[in-house]
Amino acid sequence: MDIEFVRSRFIKHFDGKTGNIYASPGRINLIGEHTDYNGGFVFPGAVDKGIMAEMRPNGTESTIRAYSIDLKDRVDFDFHDGQGPRASWARYIYGITLEMEKLGVPVKGYNIAFAGDVPLGAGMSSSAAMESCFACGLNDLFGDNKVSKWDMVLAGQATEHNYCGVNCGIMDQFASVFGQAGKLMRLDCRSREFEYFPFDPKGYKLVLLNSCVKHELAGSPYNDRRNSCENVVKHIAAKHPEGTFETLRDCTWEQLEEVRAEVGEEDYSRAHFVLGEKDRVLAVCDALVAGDYETVGKKMYETHEGLSKEYEVSCEELDFLNDIAKECGVTGSRIMGGGFGGCTINLVKDELYDDFIKTACQKYYEKYGKAPKVYDVIISDGSRKIC
Ligand code: GLA
Repeated sequence: MDIEFVRSRFIKHFDGKTGNIYASPGRINLIGEHTDYNGGFVFPGAVDKGIMAEMRPNGTESTIRAYSIDLKDRVDFDFHDGQGPRASWARYIYGITLEMEKLGVPVKGYNIAFAGDVPLGAGMSSSAAMESCFACGLNDLFGDNKVSKWDMVLAGQATEHNYCGVNCGIMDQFASVFGQAGKLMRLDCRSREFEYFPFDPKGYKLVLLNSCVKHELAGSPYNDRRNSCENVVKHIAAKHPEGTFETLRDCTWEQLEEVRAEVGEEDYSRAHFVLGEKDRVLAVCDALVAGDYETVGKKMYETHEGLSKEYEVSCEELDFLNDIAKECGVTGSRIMGGGFGGCTINLVKDELYDDFIKTACQKYYEKYGKAPKVYDVIISDGSRKIC
């Protein structure tokens, strides 16, 4: 993304002065979907697309003057007015400001202009990129950088929960804050322990195909899935007062079978997917260590199948892209992120890459009248101050 572009807009829309520039990335996730809020494992990495913001204190007590460069929309508001702005993009600024304040950062009024090149609604976490970018800026401008990376991750997640209506897990904010170039991260979402995994599969490429069906997590479907999982945990906990059951991570296959009739088929299937996904992430880790990309790919297809049939977060277009990948002999392919639209992530042998992209674009165009967007994945650094 272009620093000069953001700077020129910041100068133009405010008082001609410059501020500091911060950037945070979107993310991919190799495997481990809908496991974060179930206390399971995820396997994300930050990408070379994200959000860049210029920020500067404006001398007021609590007035934020915010400009979205991409939307050409300006909103001014007082972050202590108890309501905040209505524009959905400005809710992220409002929310993260209050969450950073809760962490003890003495935030005052500021001006902010931001732009992004992480596609919206593509399942690459443009919203987490915003939250972590703004958190990084507020921490630097007002907080002496005293807030830890983990607290910034949690502040981003709380912004989604408290101001944007999405009961998300911690994967996206984690990846955006902790990302490192060339490395994926395996995070245990229960203990929050994580490990960096250098990722440079020789002979393969990772590529995203954006179905251009925009996904929207605010509203019910995402939160519904989470409720189903929590319901299953509640039933298992009631049957086993001797144990501690906080999330599906604490539950076994046998315990799930025990409550199948009580919770009904829908909740059962969803929990069934989550237990399977936990095992798949661990299998993928072993396979990566052994350099066995065929197994990695096989697990990705299994995840797609589960997300589509059991968790029911796919859509016709994503299933279509997955089928094409299979037909083209692609090693692994699946829906990435929350689902309901967005991208598939594909692990493709170098020699099949051109043919796969061409075939996918052609067939998708024939069927849906638009070509999917193609993004080569470059694993990059997390949140940072640029200047
Ligand atoms: C969204 C959420 C994440 C995670 C994924 C699904 O991206 O923000 O917390 O639950 O969906 O894996």
